[in-house]
Amino acid sequence: MTKTVEITNLNWRYLHADDNALEDITLEVGEGEVLGIVGANENGKTTLLKSISGMIPKSTDGIKEGEVRLYGTLVEEMNERELAATVGFVFSDPELQFTMMNVLDEIVFGLENLRLDLDEIDRRLFAAAEKSASRTCSINPRWSSREDKNNGSLLRRSSP
Ligand SMILES: Nc1ncnc2c1ncn2[C@@H]1O[C@H](COP(=O)(O)OP(=O)(O)OP(=O)(O)O)[C@@H](O)[C@H]1O
Ligand SMILES: [Mg+2]
Repeated sequence: MTKTVEITNLNWRYLHADDNALEDITLEVGEGEVLGIVGANENGKTTLLKSISGMIPKSTDGIKEGEVRLYGTLVEEMNERELAATVGFVFSDPELQFTMMNVLDEIVFGLENLRLDLDEIDRRLFAAAEKSASRTCSINPRWSSREDKNNGSLLRRSSP
C-alpha cells in the first residue's frame, strides 16, 4: 500500500518552550486510510497536524528532529505549491478559512490556485461533489449561486 504520511522519530520543541510538544512520534498512514488522533488538551494534536502539513517547521520557529515524509518526500524539500497540491488542513473552526460564499466557488477557488486547467478543474469538481453530502447543490450553478449562499453547514460538509 502507498504510504501517504510517514513520520519517523519526530521531536518538536517550540521556540523558548522548556519541553518538546512532540516526543518520538513514529507512524505511517496508507492511501485511503483514515486515522483519528485523540488526546487531552495541549497534548500536541494540532502540532502533529502542522508537522504533517509543513507549517512546522516552514512557518514556525522551533527545533525539529526526525522526519516527516509525504508520498516519500521530506516536507522540508516540498515547496508551497507542492504542499498545497498534496495536503489540506482544516482548522478547528473551519468557517474561519472559507473565502467564498458557496460550495462551488469554494472548491473552484482552491483548484484555480493550483493553476489547473479548466478541464481538470471540472473533473475534480465533479469528483469532489460526488463524495460530498451536498452533491446536488454543489454541481448545479443555479443552486450554488442562490440557495447555497450563506449555507455554513453545506460548506462545512464540503470542506476537504
Ligand atoms: N505556537 C506555539 N508556541 C509555543 N507553544 C505552543 C504553540 N502552539 C502550541 N504550543 C504548545 O504545544 C503544546 C501542544 O499544543 P497543541 O496545540 O498541539 O495541543 P492540542 O492537542 O492540539 O490541544 P487542544 O486539544 O487544546 O487543541 C502545548 O503545551 C501548547 O501550549
Ligand atoms: Mg488543537
